[in-house]
Amino acid sequence: MSVAKRDLENRKVTTHRLMEMKQRGEKISMLTAYDYSMARIIDEAGMDVILVGDSASNTMAGNTTTLPITLDQMIYHGKSVVKAVKRALVVVDLPFGTYQGNSKEALASAVRVMKETHADCIKIEGGLEIKESIERILSAGIPIMGHLGLTPQSINKFGTYTVRAKEEAEAKKLIEDAHLLEELGCFSVTLEKIPAKLATQVASELAIPVIGIGAGGGVDGQVLVMHDMLGLTKGFSPRFLRRYANLEDIITTAVQSYIEDVKREDFPNEKEQY
Ligand code: KIV
Repeated sequence: MSVAKRDLENRKVTTHRLMEMKQRGEKISMLTAYDYSMARIIDEAGMDVILVGDSASNTMAGNTTTLPITLDQMIYHGKSVVKAVKRALVVVDLPFGTYQGNSKEALASAVRVMKETHADCIKIEGGLEIKESIERILSAGIPIMGHLGLTPQSINKFGTYTVRAKEEAEAKKLIEDAHLLEELGCFSVTLEKIPAKLATQVASELAIPVIGIGAGGGVDGQVLVMHDMLGLTKGFSPRFLRRYANLEDIITTAVQSYIEDVKREDFPNEKEQY
């Protein structure tokens, strides 16, 4: 690769650049990260977008849903990730209860995230029902990624984590919401766990990039939760998940070797002391 081409590749990813990627048919890679060390590795590996997802509530704090995580906690994770990232676009989720129902509060939450984490943009879940919040946040110049389909902050309304928008009425609303998000000025939309055919239709109708998780291959990019794809959440095996590593086994073997070495007084050896 020429130096000029490499410099171009290493440029910071912006919302504008994601749009260019969609236009030339280049798929967008997106993965979650919640801390400095993993964000550095993921960024240096060449990820386009790093999502500081409210899935931190599950993966980092051990909650069963995303609902309990607070704005302060998301800001803590966001700050840690941003410090590590040089190239990827960093998106921070606004957590449950910080943007629905009151657009002034939504703006205040988004402003806190942008000021305190220095992230590039925020992500929020929902369509028509959060229109005012979207408008107010966008009016402050804060870029928004929307999120439709299986929106985990509404899990108590859904009552199940199964595929959404299989029925015509829900699919119709999802299409309308996706168009609304684009018209309002969102720079991208994430579609979670919906039929591939529906997601492909949405991606072809929208000019903005559509990122899927459990939404098939006809969208403009893919996102996964880092702990799932690295094999740190063994009990979680939805059909859409591809595991790229089995870190749980690797870590267990390493930790057990260390315990064994300590017990049999093999560690530290002569060279590992002062
Ligand atoms: O919080 C998260 O990790 C997400 C992804 C599932 C898209 O929103």
